Amino acid sequence: MNKYSVLALLALLAIVSAQNCKVTLPRLLIGDKYTNATSDVTAVIAFDTIDECKGVATLNFNKGDPTFDFRVIDPVIQLVDADLDHSGKQKEHVKYLKYTQIIQLKADVEKSYTVQIQGNKTNATSIFDTNYTFILPKLPSDNAKYTQNQVKFLFLGDQDLTANGTAVLNYLNANTQTNKFDAMIYLGDYAYEFYQNNGKKGDDYLNTFAPLSFSYPLAMTPGNHEDNLNFTIFNSKFFLPGFNRTQNNYNSFTIGMVHFVHINLHFFSITKDDEKDKMLKWLKNDLAIASNAGQRKNVPWIIAVGHKLNYCYDPYYANNTECIGYAQQFLPIDNLLSQYGVDMFIVAHQHYNQVMAPMARNQLQDYKLTTVSSNEFTLQKGKGYITIIQGNGGCVTPIIPPSKSRMLDLASDLQKANLFIDAFNYGYGYIQVINQTNVEYVSYDAINKKQLVKFNIKSQHQASGGQSATFGQLITFSLVILLALFTTI
Ligand SMILES: *[C@@H]1O[C@H](CO)[C@@H](O)[C@H](O)[C@H]1NC(C)=O
Ligand SMILES: *[C@@H]1O[C@H](CO)[C@@H](O)[C@H](O)[C@H]1NC(C)=O
Ligand SMILES: *[C@@H]1O[C@H](CO)[C@@H](O)[C@H](O)[C@H]1NC(C)=O
Ligand SMILES: *[C@@H]1O[C@H](CO)[C@@H](O)[C@H](O)[C@H]1NC(C)=O
Ligand SMILES: *[C@@H]1O[C@H](CO)[C@@H](O)[C@H](O)[C@H]1NC(C)=O
Ligand SMILES: *[C@@H]1O[C@H](CO)[C@@H](O)[C@H](O)[C@H]1NC(C)=O
Ligand SMILES: *[C@@H]1O[C@H](CO)[C@@H](O)[C@H](O)[C@H]1NC(C)=O
Ligand SMILES: *[C@@H]1O[C@H](CO)[C@@H](O)[C@H](O)[C@H]1NC(C)=O
Ligand SMILES: *[C@@H]1O[C@H](CO)[C@@H](O)[C@H](O)[C@H]1NC(C)=O
Repeated sequence: MNKYSVLALLALLAIVSAQNCKVTLPRLLIGDKYTNATSDVTAVIAFDTIDECKGVATLNFNKGDPTFDFRVIDPVIQLVDADLDHSGKQKEHVKYLKYTQIIQLKADVEKSYTVQIQGNKTNATSIFDTNYTFILPKLPSDNAKYTQNQVKFLFLGDQDLTANGTAVLNYLNANTQTNKFDAMIYLGDYAYEFYQNNGKKGDDYLNTFAPLSFSYPLAMTPGNHEDNLNFTIFNSKFFLPGFNRTQNNYNSFTIGMVHFVHINLHFFSITKDDEKDKMLKWLKNDLAIASNAGQRKNVPWIIAVGHKLNYCYDPYYANNTECIGYAQQFLPIDNLLSQYGVDMFIVAHQHYNQVMAPMARNQLQDYKLTTVSSNEFTLQKGKGYITIIQGNGGCVTPIIPPSKSRMLDLASDLQKANLFIDAFNYGYGYIQVINQTNVEYVSYDAINKKQLVKFNIKSQHQASGGQSATFGQLITFSLVILLALFTTI
């Protein structure tokens, strides 16, 4: 395997005396146009300091490479002095002042890099006793080695530091050396009320999360628990590439054979019509480019990611009308994902793990499911996109397995031809790209340390043409439990 690695040293010089420039919460962030040679920012290294510490960060390379470019921009202030809450609950006054130091990287897209970060021992935090390295993933421009571009992406969402969430995080942290991912997509709702305890709750979470957020390039998605002050606190902490144009609410990037489209549907649901239109225009334009024949030949997989979802079936709270209403609320999004042949929509928000049959415009599409073993399946999809819910990171709202009677109700739908994988274990998922037509999706139980289920997903990346649906034309989709209780496997 080609390894164009450049070892670089990030030395953090606390040159401003009488300021607390202790480096905390390092994160390697990716977002808009990651790996696109024409973009002026391909990734961001961010970390927090208590004081402004302007000019505190400099990058030094112990092996110089003129193609590796970076610039330090002014610290972004995370200033809060307000009453915050989530949905009117647990209101508290937050006085919080911190700075995010931003180093924008522009990598040469022909190469991968290894960058090492080393803290200032004087003011080092424990995490800086270790050097972190990251390697920018293999890139789509390298067409000759295309089929070797078997990149692997970690998906995780809805997690805090309650016992199960911590256990999942610890498992992932302990295995960053053996369990290599090329990038990580965080699907929103980190720390559950990050602002509580004057912001310490969120920072404690990110501190525990730091081995991951520096091991893998992190595409961070805001969830509905991050919408305080119109997402401004989240945004100043996660200043993703492309921020100036889209305020982290939507962006897209390509890694290997996958074009990721990130959309914040919670923002879509609460914002004004002109912002909705702007987001839809952006999405249409992005998907039109990504799905044109020439582009798709090189980057065949299109995966949408985000926190909230279009197809939400909540068997545990029968009257969860919010969830049931998503299909209608987000129909314009559904129409675009369907029209341009998006393969999957990977989301969280619901605190469990599900895999749904391909849908387009709220209608079930053709697919073929073959059983390989008790927990491995081959899923060949036609048109439409598969929804994968990975909201089982472990948080304060526990996963509630359905009661026996509820299970029986659902079982009566078994005759219907739809697919419904439903797991209540705490963990994460990953996608491993195999080639132009095959990916593997694995759901992993990090508490019991076992693979829950594996899907070999096959797609010819067909778009579903035809008219956009209006809600009146929608049919209700039915669900089948295929693997009801993974805990028995
Ligand atoms: C670490 O910080 C201290 C205190 O600001 C400073 O005197 C020292 O030069 C720094 N060392 C390095 C290696 O950056
Ligand atoms: C080092 O950290 C301490 C406490 O966190 C702080 O008081 C001090 O000002 C810091 N020194 C520098 C040079 O940042
Ligand atoms: C890279 O960005 C440019 C400018 O936005 C765009 O025209 C081009 O299609 C992008 N290339 C890829 C591979 O996404
Ligand atoms: C971190 O990297 C530097 C430079 O390569 C090295 O001197 C130092 O010993 C490393 N520290 C650890 C804890 O590995
Ligand atoms: C919220 O932020 C968006 C940009 O993300 C902006 O367009 C909108 O006007 C803001 N809304 C309010 C109420 O400030
Ligand atoms: C984004 O805007 C800020 C503030 O206007 C500016 O300092 C920064 O350089 C801009 N970033 C990019 C990548 O254009
Ligand atoms: C759902 O709401 C309906 C109508 O309000 C009510 O009759 C039913 O008992 C509720 N079901 C559950 C499981 O709460
Ligand atoms: C943690 O996970 C275990 C095993 O699934 C479960 O029994 C327990 O209720 C969970 N605890 C919380 C607080 O969700
Ligand atoms: C893609 O991978 C699958 C599964 O390994 C294999 O059966 C298929 O032949 C491969 N297709 C191509 C075009 O390499």
